[in-house]
Amino acid sequence: MLSSRASCNSHGQDSSYFMGWQVYEKNPFDEVENPAGIIQMGLAENQLSFDLVEPWLRINPDVMGLKNKDGESVFRDLALFQDYHGMPAFKNELVEYMAKIRGNKVKFDPKNLVLAAGATAANETLIFCLADPGEAILLPTPYYPGFDRDLRWRTGVKIVPIHCTSSNGFRISMFALEEAYERAQKLNLRVKGVLITNPSNPLGTTMTKDELENLISFAIDKNIHLISDEVFSGTVFDSPCFISIIEAAMGSNLKRNTDLLSRIHIVYSLSKDLGLPGFRVGMIYSNNHTVVNAATKMSSFGLVSSQTQYLLSYMFANKKFTSKYMKENQKRLKRMKEMLVSGLKRSGINCLKSNAGLFCWVDMRHMLSSNTFEAETDLWKKILYQVRLNISPGSSFHCNEPGWFRVCFANMNQSTLQVALRRIKNFVEHSRFNYQQNMGGFSRRLLSNWVRKLSSEDHREEQERY
Ligand SMILES: Cc1ncc(COP(=O)(O)O)c(C=O)c1O
Repeated sequence: MLSSRASCNSHGQDSSYFMGWQVYEKNPFDEVENPAGIIQMGLAENQLSFDLVEPWLRINPDVMGLKNKDGESVFRDLALFQDYHGMPAFKNELVEYMAKIRGNKVKFDPKNLVLAAGATAANETLIFCLADPGEAILLPTPYYPGFDRDLRWRTGVKIVPIHCTSSNGFRISMFALEEAYERAQKLNLRVKGVLITNPSNPLGTTMTKDELENLISFAIDKNIHLISDEVFSGTVFDSPCFISIIEAAMGSNLKRNTDLLSRIHIVYSLSKDLGLPGFRVGMIYSNNHTVVNAATKMSSFGLVSSQTQYLLSYMFANKKFTSKYMKENQKRLKRMKEMLVSGLKRSGINCLKSNAGLFCWVDMRHMLSSNTFEAETDLWKKILYQVRLNISPGSSFHCNEPGWFRVCFANMNQSTLQVALRRIKNFVEHSRFNYQQNMGGFSRRLLSNWVRKLSSEDHREEQERY
C-alpha cells in the first residue's frame, strides 16, 4: 500500500529510544495522580525556565494579541505573510542571539541564515542539499537517534559511524576519523561530509579546540563539508566554554582557507536552549551562497509560522531579558545536573564528566550480567518496567560499548528527580542483595513487590515533605 520510501525502516522508529517513550505514555508518573508511574528521563526537553518566559509574555500582551508598538493590529499582515526568506526583523534578532551565545566572538550575517521548522527540518534540508542518495556522511558515535530519520530516511544518504570509545571520553580522534573514511571507501561510498553535534547529545560535553582543529584539517584534506549541529550551544553551564566550529575555523592558521569556510555549515534551533520545541524554530547558517539559495528554496516545506517569528523577534529584542534568561537557565541546568551526578554516585554509578546539555551519559557497565548489548537491553527493560524510569540505552545512540545510558534531567522538577534517584538507589541495593544471596539474577516477583512498596513510599515521603 505504501511507497517503498515511506515503508523503508531506515526511519529508526522501532529503536528502544522511541519505544521507551511509548511505554512511558501508557503509565506516566505524576506526583499526586500516579506516583507509581514511569518517570520520563528519555526526553531531552528543557522545562526548567518557563517561569522566566511566562512573566515576559504577561507584561507584553500586545505581542501575543498581534499588535505593534502603537497598539495597532498586525493580524492581516501576519496572516498573509508567506515570504520563505523569513521576517527580516526576526532574522536580525536571531543572529544577534546566536552571537551572544558564542560570547560575541563570531558575527553572523542574517543573509546567510535559512529558517526551518526546527533543527530536524534544518538537518534534513542541509543533507538533501549537500549529498545525493547513496553518498555518505560521517557521524561520530554515540549520536542522537533522530539522525537516522533526519539525515537518511528521505534523502537516501548513508550514515557511516565514526567509532568513539570511552578510552578517551568518547572524543573524536584523527585515527577514528581516518578509519571511518576508509571504511566508507571500502563500501564504495563517496563521503560528502562529517556531521558533529557540539555540545554533544548524548555526552553533554563540548568539543575541545584540538578536536575542532583536527576536524577542520580532516575536512580540508578530504575536501568535504563540515556540519555542526549546535542546538545545545546555549546550555553550556560549566567550563570549558563552548567553541563554535565557525570560531575554530576563523582561528589564525586556518583563516585564509576561504574554500573551507564555504564548506562549514551550522544547524541551530530554539528547542533546547529556550525550551521551545513546540514552536518549531530552526535554522541553517552557511557562508556558502549556493547552499543558502538551495536551502531557502527547500524551506517552503517547513517554514516557521509568521506569528511565531513575530513573537520571538520582540522577545529577542529585549536584550536584558535574553541575558537574564541565559544566565539563570544555565545556573538551573547546572544545579539539576549536579543533583543527578551526586545522587547516582551515592548508588555507585558514575557519569561521564560533562558541562552542557539536558542529560548525563551514565556508566552502568558494572551492572550488566555480561558485556553484551543483550545484557544492556535486559538492564534497560528492568529499569523501564520494574524501576519505572524511562532512560535510553547506549545502543539506541549507536554506542559500540554496552552499558552506557543517557539520563535526562531538565524535563522535571527537583522532587521528581529525587524520587527517580531513590528508586535507582533501592534498585542497586536490591540487586546487590540478590546477588549476595546468590540468586543469580532477579526474582521478578520479588522485584515487582519491592517496586510497588517503593512507589507507595515515594508518595508518602512526598506528602510528608509538603
Ligand atoms: C542533536 C540534535 N539535533 C536536532 C534535534 C532536533 O531538534 P528540533 O526540535 O529543533 O527539531 C535534536 C533533538 O533532540 C537533537 O538532539
